[in-house]
Amino acid sequence: MRMRHKKHGAERIAACAELLISPPTDAPIDPRDCFPNDRPISLEIGCGKGDFAIGTAAKRPEENLIAMERVPDVACLALEKAMATKGDRPDNLRFLIGNAQNLASIFSPRSFSTIYLNFSDPWPKSGYAKRRLTHANFLALYRNLLIPDGLLKFKTDNTELFEFSLEQFSACGLEILRETRDLHAEEWAKDNVTTEYERNFSSQGTPICSAWVRFPKENQHV
Ligand SMILES: C[S@@+](CC[C@H](N)C(=O)[O-])C[C@H]1O[C@@H](n2cnc3c(N)ncnc32)[C@H](O)[C@@H]1O
Repeated sequence: MRMRHKKHGAERIAACAELLISPPTDAPIDPRDCFPNDRPISLEIGCGKGDFAIGTAAKRPEENLIAMERVPDVACLALEKAMATKGDRPDNLRFLIGNAQNLASIFSPRSFSTIYLNFSDPWPKSGYAKRRLTHANFLALYRNLLIPDGLLKFKTDNTELFEFSLEQFSACGLEILRETRDLHAEEWAKDNVTTEYERNFSSQGTPICSAWVRFPKENQHV
C-alpha cells in the first residue's frame, strides 16, 4: 500500500499510544500482557487502514485482536480510525507497527488462536516469492506463534497468489479446512468481515478466494 508521507505522523501515532504495542527491545512480548483479560488472541498481519481489525473486534467481543502493519503512515490511519470508534467495542484491539519477517522476535510462541492474512501483497515477479506472506518461510513463523489447533485464515483477490499459497500449504503439510474461489457465495462465510481491498475488488466483480488452514499436531512447534 503506497501513500504520501503523513505530516506529523509520529505525533499522530503517539496520540493513539493507548492502542499501540511497542515492539520489544529484548525478549518477545507475551500478547496476553497487552489485554485486560485472558480471552483468545488473534493476529492480523498487514492490516492496512484497519477496517477488518476494527470490524472484527466489534463483532467478536469474546476475542482479542492484534493488528500488525509495517508502514507507519498506513498504521497511523488505522490507529486514528480505531481511536475514533473506541467506545463502540470492548477493550479488545491493539496495533503493532512492524514487519512480519521479525515475528519470532516480537511475540512469544503459542500466543495466537488465529492468524489472519487479508489481501497480502502478491509480489507477482519471479524472484520475489519469498516475500509473499504465505511462503513456507512465513508459514514456519506462524506455526510457532499459533496455539495447537490454531488457524490461519487467508483471503485474496489474486488467483496466482491463491494457487501459490495452496501449494505452500500442501508442501508444509497443512490441513485445508475450507477452500473457496468465491467466498461471498459461501454459506460458511456469512459472518465474514470485509476489508477495504475486499470491498474494492468485490465492487468490481472480482471473486474473493479464501482458505482456512491448520497445522497438523505432529508438525506443530518442532
Ligand atoms: C494490499 S494491502 C491490504 C490491506 C488490508 N489487509 C486490506 O485488505 O484492505 C497489504 C498490506 O500489508 C502490509 N504488509 C505487507 N507486507 C507486510 C509485512 N511483511 N509485515 C507487515 N505488514 C505488511 C502492507 O503495508 C499493506 O498495508
